Amino acid sequence: MATQEKNAQDRDPGTDGAAITSPSLADGAEMWRIARDSGALDLNSSYAYLMFCRDFARTSRIATVDGEAAGFVLGYRRPERPDCLFVWQIAVDERFRGRQVSSRLLDHLVRTEVRADGPLPAVRTLETTITDDNTASQALFTSFARRWGAELTTVPLFAATHFPDGHDAEPLYEIGPLVPSDDH
Ligand SMILES: CC(C)(COP(=O)(O)OP(=O)(O)OC[C@H]1O[C@@H](n2cnc3c(N)ncnc32)[C@H](O)[C@@H]1OP(=O)(O)O)[C@@H](O)C(=O)NCCC(=O)NCCS
Repeated sequence: MATQEKNAQDRDPGTDGAAITSPSLADGAEMWRIARDSGALDLNSSYAYLMFCRDFARTSRIATVDGEAAGFVLGYRRPERPDCLFVWQIAVDERFRGRQVSSRLLDHLVRTEVRADGPLPAVRTLETTITDDNTASQALFTSFARRWGAELTTVPLFAATHFPDGHDAEPLYEIGPLVPSDDH
């Protein structure tokens, strides 16, 4: 499907004024900016954000308010477990926080992926990692699990000793089972 068609299909004006779409290459620079200014995310190369906009647009979303990028989520299906959606980064520009923008980004993405489409199986599990000091992100995913009636479990994954640069540990948050519902 052409990217433009897909974007039009994904458009969801919602109630808070944020339009949510799958990203295109034109969105990569703003994602990089929001990640840089987030105060919490690892800033990856600008190239990495462009790559997600090209190769993982289906499992990523961008929110815009009045034409301005307000937030994004980047995800991919794990190659060895394609019914599992890994959320790599999610961030909302400080000016738009506390307005459910990130909750809507997640709901929009998962709503599509829990319905089987083409050769890929329906997503049944969402995974992400969160450092122990990131209470906003913990609240976001706890709220998501509650809304979707799914269990949230945490297990160690990336230990501080795995990182070469003093990075904090990143435990794994696993949320499931996710099933299609008319509530989201
Ligand atoms: C985490 C982040 C994406 C949340 O975005 P947001 O759009 O403000 O979140 P929402 O408005 O959708 O809120 C979702 C839930 O989290 C809660 N929450 C949001 N920010 C919070 C905070 N700072 N402290 C405590 N709870 C918080 C909300 O109350 C809400 O809970 P509810 O649904 O039970 O009412 C945003 O704070 C951010 O960009 N932080 C920096 C980047 C980051 O840490 N990303 C996650 C790691 S990959």
